[in-house]
Order: sequence, then C-alpha cells, then structure tokens
Amino acid sequence: MTSAYVLNGPNLNLLGMREPEIYGKSTLADVERSCWEVADELGWALEFRQTNREGELVEWIQEAGEAQSAGEAVGVVLNAAAYTHTSVALQDAIVGSGASVIELHISNVYRREPFRHVSYVSPVAAGVIVGLGVACYPLALRALATLSGHG
Ligand code: DQA
Repeated sequence: MTSAYVLNGPNLNLLGMREPEIYGKSTLADVERSCWEVADELGWALEFRQTNREGELVEWIQEAGEAQSAGEAVGVVLNAAAYTHTSVALQDAIVGSGASVIELHISNVYRREPFRHVSYVSPVAAGVIVGLGVACYPLALRALATLSGHG
C-alpha cells in the first residue's frame, strides 16, 4: 500500500493549547484524524509523526525519500515549525533524499514576525500551503495526490 508521510516539528505536540488565537483549538490528534480521512479515501497508509528534535526530522525525511524511490511512498507533508526558519540540515535532507515535499504552515507566517518570512524549506519544496489553519493538512495531502498522480 502506498504511504504518505505527514511530519510535524517542534511544539506541534502542544497544538490546541499553544497560542490558540494563532493556531486554533484543534489538537494534533484531531489533525491526524482529518489526515486519515483523506488517506482512507485515497487508499493510502499514513506515517503521521511529530518530534521536537531536528535530527529526527532529518532521519524521517531520509526514510520518506527512500520509500518514495522504492515506489512505496508518494512524499511528505512537512510542517517543520520553527526549524523551517533555521535549518540548513532540513533543506539538505530534502534535496539529498529526493523526497517530494509540500511545506505547510497552519498560521500565515507572512503576516507574522519577519524571521518567520524566511524558509529554508520553500526553495526545495514542490509546493507550499500556508495560513488556512489545520485545514492545510488535508489540502496538502490532496496536493501530494495530484503531484504524484496517485490520487
Ligand atoms: C508554524 C509557523 C512557525 O513559524 C512556528 O514556529 C510554528 C508553527 C505554523 O504551522 O504556523 O511552530 O509552522
């Protein structure tokens, strides 16, 4: 069965409690459920994960790239959270692994502080979905389906 990876970076485990005026009241478990609805519809398995560690995100992107090369995965929906704005390692992992990545941000980072306007992921992402709240996640999975022709 084809898999899609949905990878979440630091502090997204706090979704629902953390700055709800910015990120909303849905929890990460709610987000995972909404992703499974799309995955079930598309006949995909889902690797839905969260970590607070940069190196773990790097390893998961490498894993996704390998799975994609083997024809076992369609790519990655990546909310790298704060690492988006700092991580050369994530950019290198995306390029090095060949994983197709849809970058995602729940909030509209371009309406926020200038440091959030910089993304190390965007230049190597297939596409970017930003600022539509947690509705970004199912949209990003559908974007992966369109991109990969696995829809
Ligand atoms: C975020 C935006 C980032 O700037 C921030 O550091 C996050 C979440 C978002 O989903 O809106 O942790 O990626």
